Amino acid sequence: CGIIGCVGREDETLDVLVHGLSKLEYRGYDSAGVALSGDRVDVCKKSGKIEDLKGALEPRSIGGAAGIGHTRWSTHGPPTDANAHPHLDCSGDVAVVHNGIIENYQSLRDELVSAGHTFKSDTDTEVVPHLVEDALVDGADNEAAVREAISRLEGSYAVAVVVSGDDTIYAARNDSPLVLGIDESEARSPSEDSSGRSPRESNDERGPAYYLASDVPAFRDFTDRVVYLADGEFATLSADGWRVSDVDGNTVDKDVDTVDWDPEETGKSGYDHFMLKEINEQPRAIRQCLRGRVDEMAAQVDIGDLGDLAPTGVQFVACGTSYHAALYGAQLLRSAGIPAQAFLASEYATSPPPIGDALVVGVTQSGETADTLSALREARKRGARTLAVTNTVGSTAARECDHALYIRAGPEIGVAASKTFASQLAALNLFTLGTTRVDGKRDIIGALRDLPSNIQAILDESRAEAVAETYVDSGAYFFIGRGLQYPVALEGALKMKEITYKHAEGFAAGELKHGPLALVTEDTPVFAVVTGDGEMARKTIGNVKEVEARDAPVVAVTDGQSDVERYADHVLEVPETRPQAAAVLANVQLQLVSYYVADELGRSIDKPRNLAKSVTVE
Ligand code: G6P
Repeated sequence: CGIIGCVGREDETLDVLVHGLSKLEYRGYDSAGVALSGDRVDVCKKSGKIEDLKGALEPRSIGGAAGIGHTRWSTHGPPTDANAHPHLDCSGDVAVVHNGIIENYQSLRDELVSAGHTFKSDTDTEVVPHLVEDALVDGADNEAAVREAISRLEGSYAVAVVVSGDDTIYAARNDSPLVLGIDESEARSPSEDSSGRSPRESNDERGPAYYLASDVPAFRDFTDRVVYLADGEFATLSADGWRVSDVDGNTVDKDVDTVDWDPEETGKSGYDHFMLKEINEQPRAIRQCLRGRVDEMAAQVDIGDLGDLAPTGVQFVACGTSYHAALYGAQLLRSAGIPAQAFLASEYATSPPPIGDALVVGVTQSGETADTLSALREARKRGARTLAVTNTVGSTAARECDHALYIRAGPEIGVAASKTFASQLAALNLFTLGTTRVDGKRDIIGALRDLPSNIQAILDESRAEAVAETYVDSGAYFFIGRGLQYPVALEGALKMKEITYKHAEGFAAGELKHGPLALVTEDTPVFAVVTGDGEMARKTIGNVKEVEARDAPVVAVTDGQSDVERYADHVLEVPETRPQAAAVLANVQLQLVSYYVADELGRSIDKPRNLAKSVTVE
């Protein structure tokens, strides 16, 4: 989701908000809305793209000195007009936009409903305006009321609030980004947006303007002076100036930084490609996926009603990267004693397996892949219960299946899936932990909890770029792995194909000698994923020796527990952890290798030729 706020120049507020929202659309785009506060709070919101919001705004005259806006990527409730932000209290005097997940929203909502509040949406956000309203009724002033409401929230949030009759924006952050933009210049040249039109026309006698956003691109066309809020900080912005304070209300002395990048780079947050940005977002994506769902001390996972599913058999259907996640998920369930298989969705209906009382699980990032939808429909026709594991609330898969488990990775723009794969693996662990009696729950939960910091360690120290430079001219690339690292080998190869256009294949390590070994030469690097030090690692090392004997360069992706390094030309290290998490970590190294090979080759990384993010034909 993306937040924008602006205050100071009344005649421009709405234009600036809409402009900012279009710059933030990359953060999510299933609905959008704005609220402006004058004598009353005016709200306009709409499901769909920013263009749809513009259409809804056109016939209306909506104005105000302080305004907030939001573009949504659903996490609670489908993308409808009612669920779009801003959300209002009962009186209509308090409007709120929010990013993140309020973990205790259900108990807050129950409390507010029994106190007489009426809710209009399914969102977690809507508790906030009602909490503010309660504090106002109790006699608090506007700032104190917002502070009081914020103090009740658990979870992650970036929140912005406006109240009628008050030209101030109140904002707070915890674990969700928020940055202020400061424009105190008296006169400045107009900056054009990409459409060639600027919301700013005249520069004369202009007072200061202040902005607020989830990300700098939202207001970068207006100012390059920014103040980054830290967790726990509270900000007030009005035409008279801005102030940042701590939880106790003490003013915090903040640095005003100057951003030096071009507004054209908007959306990529300084990364060269969305894919690299999304690879780097994986620690956050995993945190979001786990938030409020795991309790390490109690060795428990809470996936709501899904916890009651008690599957006795599972059939996964999926395509592409999601199919690799499905192969991994099937292994997790089998290790918990549940018969489980993964099917390519496009093949499922051609020879449908007996369903019995199996749960059929569609793994689909977009929730719109035609092959997967069609396999799920086939399963439903034959009486199966269905579950969608998806990133997209309100998607066709989520709507058509009996149940949905959201992976909460946030929007992914790069066509080649990266962070959504990591989040799918995390979500499939949650599903297994939450529905079966798998052994070692506490350890697995601990390993999942450690994933964000372990991924970060890889991102900080990876030697993948050097490996990519070494092998950029190779004729083909092979990837091998066993057990949970087998789907990772397949995914490593798919990523390489998708974004480098080079020949790449992934194999179960043991299969290599049954044919593919004929392709192995000194010109075909073999990426061997070997984690742990058990029987599986020993066998894979045997396969590594087979390729080494054919003079193929070996790149070992390893946690250093085995002696695979002895047979490798290069090593890409991953932290030691449980096998479930080791697969996610090894994949990060392989993502980086493919990314850097593609970058060296100058490929169109975010939009590879012939591919689409979501394929809606069979
Ligand atoms: C397309 C994309 C792949 C993706 C596959 C499944 O083919 O190019 O990257 O893995 O669809 O997408 P889904 O949205 O169902 O996960």
